[in-house]
Amino acid sequence: MPKLVNKLLLMLLATPVAFAGNVEVLHYWTSGGEAAALDVLKKQMADEGHQWQDFVIAGGGGGNAMAELQTRVLKGLPPAAAQIKGLDIQRWARLGFLANLNNIAQADKWDDKLPSVVSDVMKHNDQYVAVPVNVHRTNWLWINKPLLDALNLKAPKTWDEFDAAAKVIQDAGYQVIAQGDQAWQHATLFEAVALSVGGADYYKRAFVEHEFSAIKSAETDAVFERYYKLVKLMKFDSDAEWHQATNKVIEGKAAFQFMGDWAKGEFIKAEKKPNKDFMCVPAPGTANKFLFNIDSFAIFNLRNVEASEIQAQTALVRNIMSDSFQSAFNQNKGSIPARTDMSMATFDLCAQYSMSEFLNANDNGALLPSIAHGMATTGTVQQYFYEKIAELTKTPDTPAESSKQLAKAIRYGQYILK
Ligand code: GAL
Repeated sequence: MPKLVNKLLLMLLATPVAFAGNVEVLHYWTSGGEAAALDVLKKQMADEGHQWQDFVIAGGGGGNAMAELQTRVLKGLPPAAAQIKGLDIQRWARLGFLANLNNIAQADKWDDKLPSVVSDVMKHNDQYVAVPVNVHRTNWLWINKPLLDALNLKAPKTWDEFDAAAKVIQDAGYQVIAQGDQAWQHATLFEAVALSVGGADYYKRAFVEHEFSAIKSAETDAVFERYYKLVKLMKFDSDAEWHQATNKVIEGKAAFQFMGDWAKGEFIKAEKKPNKDFMCVPAPGTANKFLFNIDSFAIFNLRNVEASEIQAQTALVRNIMSDSFQSAFNQNKGSIPARTDMSMATFDLCAQYSMSEFLNANDNGALLPSIAHGMATTGTVQQYFYEKIAELTKTPDTPAESSKQLAKAIRYGQYILK
């Protein structure tokens, strides 16, 4: 080999070479806070010279993302990465569509950085096939603080305190609960009430293990009783999206929203401060209990593409696990990092509280997967759960009849093969 070529080759091997490539990413983060959070990743990728291509599917909570993805994958044209969560990851991996990330995971010591409740979801047959971005908690109550202060009220810790506060808020002419009119939003509230009223063991038996007798039970009757009381305090208007409901709390038109901590992303985007403009407290009766919802990107096998696209895909994976991304993204998104080896010093009070609740709940058996957000069950069972809760929200039945119907719906979802 001529000397010059030899020297060039050595230089190439010694310096990190930037292979600028295209990376297409499917996601459904379109609200103000969500988009601001994702911009962190887009920027990190752009700084490395890669071109980000958005494959956006609007509609909170996932919307039609899976159907659109299926169409693309069947055409043999998957995106490099797609926002896929929970048990759905297993389904895509089983079908052989996902890449094995173990080389990167071993080199970057993912097993030491991720708690097993997170890494278990990212692995299929001991192979990492997805990368986690965060841990959301769904059993939060968001409160407009100036409004509560003006009415001399404290954040409610029990349902009795909640009822008493609701009466004062209503008498003062304000909306008590802001809630968008979508099945997944109702399901999100319902699961928080189930954890609160039934407790951690009940939640697990009913919504993770789907024990029929746990769902059709006196506990579920009590859950519905409480749930229906809350439904009476909602006003379903044209504000269907969750972030429009959050806005009502931000603007002081409504006092409360039950929602996962992506709602905090909207408060932050509006430059509101925790414990001054708003409060984040566990849904009454759920302190030290944590329903988790882990966002992640599943990484697809790319065939017949330029080497630069594979390089860009690898860069995406590494960026998602980087300190800078996990920190900046989650401060915008409202969640906590998926990694438990990171300092929380720069995070706000709500996030620090969330991390301590996450660790407490992990220690006391109350860290549980969210059924409303695809962590606890299959997409099919989830769909039946959504539909039944949405139907009963619109046309409530007696608590006992509601429990029976819910148990049947979940059983039906388990029988359907999809
Ligand atoms: C959840 C998702 C969150 C949040 C929310 C609303 O399912 O995990 O990241 O964005 O939907 O879109």
